[in-house]
Amino acid sequence: MVEERLIGDDGLREDGRKPDQLRPIKIEAGVLHNADGSAYVEWGKNKVLAAVYGPREVHPKFLQDSTKAIVQVTYNMAAFSVDDRIRPGPNRRATEISKIIGEALEYVILTHHFPRSSVDVYIEVLEASAGTRCAGLTAASVAVADAGIPMTDLVVSCAAGKADGQIILDLGKSEDNLGEADVPLGYIPRTGEIVLLQMDGHLTKAEFEKAMNMAMNACKDIYEMQKDALRRRYAVGADEDKTPTQEVIE
Ligand code: CDP
Repeated sequence: MVEERLIGDDGLREDGRKPDQLRPIKIEAGVLHNADGSAYVEWGKNKVLAAVYGPREVHPKFLQDSTKAIVQVTYNMAAFSVDDRIRPGPNRRATEISKIIGEALEYVILTHHFPRSSVDVYIEVLEASAGTRCAGLTAASVAVADAGIPMTDLVVSCAAGKADGQIILDLGKSEDNLGEADVPLGYIPRTGEIVLLQMDGHLTKAEFEKAMNMAMNACKDIYEMQKDALRRRYAVGADEDKTPTQEVIE
């Protein structure tokens, strides 16, 4: 059996990227009319939509907190988002991703301003190709800002990992499946705080530090893209209920 190579002799990856290169990322804010805030992210072959409602009444009521708003995240992969159809409905993986994204967002949302209420965040993965939790958190963060919910800052997310013995940024599908490690990170570039950190696989301490630095640096670039998406949104839609996409079509 011939072992599949993920990094070529030229040092480039399967999709032609350098080890520390991100997949192409596009972020658009305010894409849905019926949500208080929304964002759409294309990240390589991932397509992710985030919708935010609130702060609004808590359902179910017993979850209400008299001191702060709760942040409820529902991450969902569309049945058609991967090669094999996904069975609709919650599963362990979606529950885990919803929880970690919720915790990351709760850290930046000024929840104590809205006691007894809920900020509801829906993340719909329309197409998945590794790194959907990072794309989801990055989109959700822009959608919360688009909803006008006060936050200390935007959260950015990106992964780094290891494939073919090399530390690489933003793992693609085959690197995620066949590589040695994947470390998704949620990061606040301005303060340097880490609000999400997971690790699948094995890394030495030095490799882990290298991967973290790579992911943190990339987060700084993605942070600029998030802010740019919000700026474009408000430059176009300040006085009209129009999405940037509609503006382009018209
Ligand atoms: O998407 P993310 O990398 O955050 O999470 P993962 O659990 O590491 O999944 C990696 C990738 O595997 C996903 O992005 C999908 O492309 C794929 N996947 C799938 O094909 N079927 C599933 N039920 C779950 C994930």
